[in-house]
Amino acid sequence: MASILSPAPGNVGVVRSINDKIYVGLRPLSTRTYVPVARGSKARPLAVVRASSEKEVPVKSLGLSIEECEAAAVAGKFPDPPPLYTPQGPKGTPVVQPLPLSRRPRRNRKSPALRAAFQETTLSPSNFVHPLFIHEGEEDVPIGAMPGCFRLGWRHGLLEEVYKARDVGVNSFVLFPKIPDALKSQTGDEAYNDNGLVPRAIRLLKDRYPDIVIYTDVALDPYSSDGHDGIVREDGVIMNDETVHQLCKQAVSQARAGADVVSPSDMMDGRILAIRMALDAEGFQDVSIMSYTAKYASAFYGPFREALDSNPRFGDKKTYQMNPANYREALVETEADEAEGADILLVKPGLPYLDIIRLLRDNSSLPIAAYQVSGEYSMIKAGGVLKMIDEEKVMMESLLCLRRAGADIILTYFARQAASVLCGMKGK
Ligand code: PBG
Repeated sequence: MASILSPAPGNVGVVRSINDKIYVGLRPLSTRTYVPVARGSKARPLAVVRASSEKEVPVKSLGLSIEECEAAAVAGKFPDPPPLYTPQGPKGTPVVQPLPLSRRPRRNRKSPALRAAFQETTLSPSNFVHPLFIHEGEEDVPIGAMPGCFRLGWRHGLLEEVYKARDVGVNSFVLFPKIPDALKSQTGDEAYNDNGLVPRAIRLLKDRYPDIVIYTDVALDPYSSDGHDGIVREDGVIMNDETVHQLCKQAVSQARAGADVVSPSDMMDGRILAIRMALDAEGFQDVSIMSYTAKYASAFYGPFREALDSNPRFGDKKTYQMNPANYREALVETEADEAEGADILLVKPGLPYLDIIRLLRDNSSLPIAAYQVSGEYSMIKAGGVLKMIDEEKVMMESLLCLRRAGADIILTYFARQAASVLCGMKGK
């Protein structure tokens, strides 16, 4: 009976001979490679299975079944140690004495099973928060700068996208609305309309999928005719405390609709405490706050602003978002957000700011979120389309690196695609 040997992770194929018979067995975790020896003939390698081999080397079925092997052993035909075969380097390889190393870190990387055993960081669909763009229309409208992303119709496309994401284990979503110009104003009052797009979408989703986690964005920019996250004074200054007043109303309105986690992305001072108090005053003690703690004034948000048509009409966001040159300043924000009662601290963007993620991880016991923003997504997509990089591998590596830096959860436009890979359901 044929026994098929394939070099499963962690096992090295061992081919050996006993009493003229060729046996194929599995010997765990050896770098030695053995060859079959037929009595009276010259030894030659039939199958070489290297533990560190990148490719799985197919091994022909040569030996006996497990039962036959057992029977042979029971009958006293226990195999001798197999003859050693030392694989040769190519012609011209220098002959050297082994280096006298007490530590060879490659030993812990020599086989897939060992590498898996010592892997320090893992990725799971449960780590992902899927950002979704929604609009009032019926159709899903592709976003030019973000291939694969759409402004979803809140009644159809949104429900379908959530269905597909749940199918691969993604249960957390954050909603970003595209608001019609007619509803925008200088004070962004549409942000707390209980029948506005976001509260309606939350109610629909919660009704259909009660177990999902809905994060919301708390900021005025989608609702502001000035395209800023706060109210703009006539001299161009973004008004802090007046904006916070609006944000509190916005957060309460989202909580009333059923939001699980409200996420202020505006970077006004003192908004976490104010929102906490506003939520509690309305009985929403169980609604969490994910604070955009260290949000930088970044050019990586470009595609997002196209998606929502939310570019600032003038100026930039540098008086509220942080200077990309600054590191210590993130600690000032961290201390404030912790003291004010944030439940989760977020760093944004992600990959160019791994040091900030690590800084927060090492200085707070709260869960840390990283936002892999639109520009990061678009760069990887573009590199893939141009065949300059392997999109899927770079996607998975970038997400793993965000986890390694210290992120518990990752907001990423790759959420569904990456989760599909993790579930072994490659493709879209
Ligand atoms: C605005 C907001 C922005 C993003 C999330 N919330 C843009 C901005 O600050 O201008 C960017 C997300 C992305 O680029 O993916 N409150």
